[in-house]
Amino acid sequence: DEARAAQESAPELVVVANRLPVDLEKLPDGSTRWKRSPGGLVTALEPVLRKNHGAWVGWPGVPDVDVDPIVEDGLALYPVALSSRDVTEYYEGFSNGTLWPLYHDVVVKPIFDRTWWNTYVEVNRRFAEETAAIAAENATVWVQDYQLQLVPKMLRMLRPDLTIGFFQHIPFPPIEIFMQLPWRTEIIEGLLGADLVGFHLPGGAQNFVYLANRLAGHPVSRGQIGVRSKFGEVQVGFRTVRAGAFPISIASGELDELSKSRSVRQRAKQIRQELGNPRRIMLGVDRLDYTKGINIRMTAIQELLADGRLDPKENIFVQLATPSRERVEHYMHMRDEIERQVGRINGDFGEVGHPVVHYLHRPIPRNELVAFFVAADVMLVTPVRDGMNLVAKEYVACRSDLGGALLLSEFTGAATELRQAYLVNPHDIDGVKDSLLAALDQAPEEGRKRMRALRRQVLTHDVNRWARAFLNALAETPHAGETGASL
Ligand code: ADP
Ligand code: G6P
Repeated sequence: DEARAAQESAPELVVVANRLPVDLEKLPDGSTRWKRSPGGLVTALEPVLRKNHGAWVGWPGVPDVDVDPIVEDGLALYPVALSSRDVTEYYEGFSNGTLWPLYHDVVVKPIFDRTWWNTYVEVNRRFAEETAAIAAENATVWVQDYQLQLVPKMLRMLRPDLTIGFFQHIPFPPIEIFMQLPWRTEIIEGLLGADLVGFHLPGGAQNFVYLANRLAGHPVSRGQIGVRSKFGEVQVGFRTVRAGAFPISIASGELDELSKSRSVRQRAKQIRQELGNPRRIMLGVDRLDYTKGINIRMTAIQELLADGRLDPKENIFVQLATPSRERVEHYMHMRDEIERQVGRINGDFGEVGHPVVHYLHRPIPRNELVAFFVAADVMLVTPVRDGMNLVAKEYVACRSDLGGALLLSEFTGAATELRQAYLVNPHDIDGVKDSLLAALDQAPEEGRKRMRALRRQVLTHDVNRWARAFLNALAETPHAGETGASL
C-alpha cells in the first residue's frame, strides 16, 4: 500500500535538465539558500512546469553536495549530485569545452578529451537512473539540452513504458562540423532513444535526421521539415522517432504586464536620471559568453566614437553581464577582453563622473532588468551564434509603449521570427556600425511600426504555446500511451 501511495504521487511529467531552476548557494557562515539559476533554459521552462505541477530532476549548481528532494512552490525538485571531478570533466569539460563551442560553429576550438567523454557517459547514466527511479508508470519525461544527450537512450532501456521527449536549446550544427566529434555516433544514438527530438529551427532538425541515416544507418524521411509542423521521421527498428522545429519563447504576457507597472516605469525614469539624462541609452544583457558578441558591439561603439559619429556626451552604453562558466579557459579570456574594452572606451571618451560604458558583472534582479529594458533606446543583441536568444524577445515584450529599437544578429534563432528588427551580420563591423546609427536615429513613426510588428510576434508566440506544441506532438507519437501529457 505504501508503494502504491508513493506511485500515485509519482510525477506524470518530469523535466530532466543539467540544472535545477534554482541553485544552492553556500553563504560565508556555512548556511545555504536557494537562488534562481542563470540562462534561457530555466527562464523558459520554469513557468511551464509550475503551471503543470511537474517534477524537475537536475544538479543544484554546486559540487559535492547531497541534498534531499524538496517541493518548492508546488514544484518537486529532485537534485542529482555531482562531484568536483564531475563538474570539471562533465560540465566544464565535455559540455562546455567540447560540445558548446562545437555546436556554436566552432567559434573557439573544441577540446576532444577521452576522459571528459567517459565522465559525460557516467553522469548521463546517473541522470537516467535517478529519473527512472521517480517517474510514474507511463509518465512523460522531457530531457533538455546538450549536457544530457545520452539520457533518452539510457532511460528507454531502463523504463520502456515512458514517453520520452528531448529538446536541444542550442544550435544543432552543420553536418561537416558535427562529423568532427569522435563520439558522433553515440550522441546520435543517444538522442534516438527519444520519441520526439525538438530543435529551434527546421535546419537543425534536418541535420539530425540526415545524421541518423548516415551515422546510425536508419531509414529516414526525406521531406522538408516545417515550423511546428511536417516532422521528420527516423525508423529505429519498430519505433518511429520524430524530429521537429519548435522555436522557444518567453512568458511574454507576464513580462508585458510587469513592464507596465508603476514601479517599473518609475524605476526606468530614475535609471535615465542616474545615467545623467543622456539623449540615448544603448543596452546589452547577456551571460558573459564568447558566443554573445559583446566584444563586437563594444568595437562598433568604440569606432563610432573615434570616428566622431557618436557623441559621448549624449550616448551611453550599459552592459549587464551575468558571470558564467568562470573556470573554463575561453570564458576567462573573453572576460579579460571585454573588461579591457570597457576600460579603453571610458579612458578615451569618458569624463569624470560621466563614463560612456557602464558595465555590471553580476545577475540583475528581474524587476530591475525590466526597468532597464523599458529605459533602453536601442537593445544590442549581437551573437556570432545563438540557438534562440530570449533577451531579444524579452526586450520586445517590455515595450508596450512601442518605443525603442532592437539591433539583432542574423545568427540567432530569434532572427528568423523577429524580421522587423535591425538585422546585422556581426562579422561585418561596418554594417553593425551603420545599423546601430540607423537604430539610434530612427524616426519615431518608423520605430513604432517596427515594434508593433515585433510585439505581435512575441505576444502571440509565448512559451506556453511552445511547450504545448512540443508536448502535443510528443503525445501523438506512435509510441506514446494514453497517459501522454498534453497541456
Ligand atoms: P542563454 O540561454 O544563452 O543565457 P538567452 O538570451 O536565451 O541566453 O537567455 C538568457 C536569460 O538570462 C534571459 O532570461 C535573460 O533575461 C537572463 N539574463 C541575462 N543576463 C542577465 C543579467 N545580467 N542579469 C539577470 N538576468 C540576465
Ligand atoms: C544556456 C544553455 C542552458 C544553460 C544556460 C546557463 O541557456 O542552453 O543549458 O543552463 O545556458 O548556463 P550554465 O552553464 O550556467 O547552466
